[in-house]
Amino acid sequence: MNILVTGTHGFIGVMMGAYLRNQGHSVTGLDTGFYSDGWLYDGVEPVEHTICKDIRAVTESDLAGFDAVVHLAELSNDPLGKLNPTITYQINHQGSVHLAQLCKAVGIPRFVYASSCSVYGLGSDDFKTEESEVNPLTAYAECKVMVERDVSALADDYFSPTFLRNATAYGASPRIRFDVVLNNLSGMAWTQKQIALTSDGRPWRPLVHVLDICQAFSRVLEAPRAVVHNQVFNVGDTRENYRVVEIARIVAEVFPDCVLTVGTSDQDDRSYRVSFDKIHRVLPEFACQWDARKGAQQLYQVFEQIKMEADTFGFRAFTRLKQLQHLIAVGQIDDQFYWK
Ligand SMILES: NC(=O)c1ccc[n+]([C@@H]2O[C@H](COP(=O)([O-])OP(=O)(O)OC[C@H]3O[C@@H](n4cnc5c(N)ncnc54)[C@H](O)[C@@H]3O)[C@@H](O)[C@H]2O)c1
Repeated sequence: MNILVTGTHGFIGVMMGAYLRNQGHSVTGLDTGFYSDGWLYDGVEPVEHTICKDIRAVTESDLAGFDAVVHLAELSNDPLGKLNPTITYQINHQGSVHLAQLCKAVGIPRFVYASSCSVYGLGSDDFKTEESEVNPLTAYAECKVMVERDVSALADDYFSPTFLRNATAYGASPRIRFDVVLNNLSGMAWTQKQIALTSDGRPWRPLVHVLDICQAFSRVLEAPRAVVHNQVFNVGDTRENYRVVEIARIVAEVFPDCVLTVGTSDQDDRSYRVSFDKIHRVLPEFACQWDARKGAQQLYQVFEQIKMEADTFGFRAFTRLKQLQHLIAVGQIDDQFYWK
């Protein structure tokens, strides 16, 4: 297949480009490059050609000839959404719907969208399924819900969108994010030999390795159209629902001499436990290859290999909010988040 992957300069995108290429697909990237300053380690080949463009400025001519679009490029977490909710709606909601509309207009039959389990927001201990009511608590999560709704409405005999609600990602990527929970705790364990949770760590968080996300997208692209047409899938493994404190415990066990302390406050009200049965039922070849412990071990090996220093862990480009605040402060992007 000839695939356009948006967000190829990001944490998941750089791995997605390499993964799909290894599956024999021809891959072109598209990314505005907000975090391109950061590259943690070598060994992953970025896609050869990336269109350097904002998704809001994409035109039909950028999309000619693709069989499928994998859409990852958005402001990728809750704190970014809080930084500027208006821009979050413009990029994540309107930008994504604009992209899907153009894909449909030029006749691209498949559109696979990176949604998020954060649409479930606040749950009880019950497992959320794709049929559960959504409860988005932030602008970021609300945009995911609105994109699913509006792009789903475009589905017809010639345009098949699929919505993959990914669990919280972890794992190694040259464009690593240290603002996702397992990677963040691993960075603390490596640089400080200490994980000091200020919260009580009770909220539930389903986790999924970045390569298992890549596998899910690949399985969807290769599945018969009828199986994935206008479907929503949670992406992960039901066994990989952890309380934050459990994730911290696993990381502290993997990183030698790491001390874990747990706080008492209860600051984060996002908590959801998710069932991943549907993706396993509908796409039986899909099977997660990773779990949290293996992911922490992988990060330990990467940090060891590059002798990672505290400055690297703290580098702005590896924390999405810090990097965007930096680009704004030095005037590299304007108030609409376009490069000046
Ligand atoms: N990482 C996770 O835990 C997770 C979980 C669920 C869903 N997702 C979704 O997966 C996608 C990728 O996540 P990630 O962790 O790789 O994020 P990321 O921030 O590392 O990557 C996003 C990429 O998109 C690009 N981008 C952002 N806005 C753009 C715009 N307007 N035009 C063009 N490019 C733009 C950025 O430059 C960046 O390279 C996002 O849509 C995110 O919401 C991520």
